[in-house]
Amino acid sequence: MPNTNRPIGVFDSGIGGLTVAHAISRLLPDEQIIYFGDTAHLPYGDKSRDLIKRYSLEITDFLLREKHCKCIVIACNTASAAAYEYLRDTHMGSVPIFNVIDPIVESVIADDSIHHVGIIATKTTILSGVYQEKLSRRKPGLRYSALATPLLAPMIEEGFFNNTISQAVIHNYLEQPELQGIDALILGCTHYVMIKKEINAFYEGKVKLFDSTDIVATKLEAILDKEHLLSDKPVGKNLFYVSDYTESFEQSAKAFYGESLSLQQQKAGGR
Ligand code: DGL
Repeated sequence: MPNTNRPIGVFDSGIGGLTVAHAISRLLPDEQIIYFGDTAHLPYGDKSRDLIKRYSLEITDFLLREKHCKCIVIACNTASAAAYEYLRDTHMGSVPIFNVIDPIVESVIADDSIHHVGIIATKTTILSGVYQEKLSRRKPGLRYSALATPLLAPMIEEGFFNNTISQAVIHNYLEQPELQGIDALILGCTHYVMIKKEINAFYEGKVKLFDSTDIVATKLEAILDKEHLLSDKPVGKNLFYVSDYTESFEQSAKAFYGESLSLQQQKAGGR
């Protein structure tokens, strides 16, 4: 199969990255996506960098060697923060590897109306300092404040969104002193797309929200186009693998993806 018609590999710790996969599928309907959710090992948000690197490498190897993907999208902020450079260096430019952090940073710094940006994400992402470092290096005058919000991803994964529980948790976090006076907020976890409406309601639409769906899909399209890797015909059905299948994941997966899908169980490495 020519390079152009090989699939796009997308992975996340679980099903949060389906929000990114769906945005890619909407923008690039001719492309085939092979999605891998590492449900046996989620959440990544409280794991060590070394462990996340190991899991990410095994998944990337599976997507490249067994599924012959033409590029890899790390649809997880935590894995992007912990493992992006490691994966890029290990695969030494053999295929384009995308993280979800750089496109968001680029969009935020391009917007001159933003003076103070908040970042909410998992503990591992916030502690890595990746967003903070990239924002301050690329736009030194920009003020930023970061807050780890570890309850959000498990809460969303369990189906708690658009209800009184999610509202209470979201309000509690957004009322923290770190996030006062912001004019933009980075939703630094692919799960948070599911609570974007609730966050927007909290701010009454007055704070700009940045997430990793359309921004990442648009960046991916631009790079694949530049590298002459966009498929030239509809390639095939999207496939969704998880490292631990349960019916409840399948139910939640439908909500994250926004349409029906079926999950298949698959081991990524020899673990
Ligand atoms: N969806 C992942 C992210 O974007 C986090 C979920 C987890 O902790 O595994 O960071």
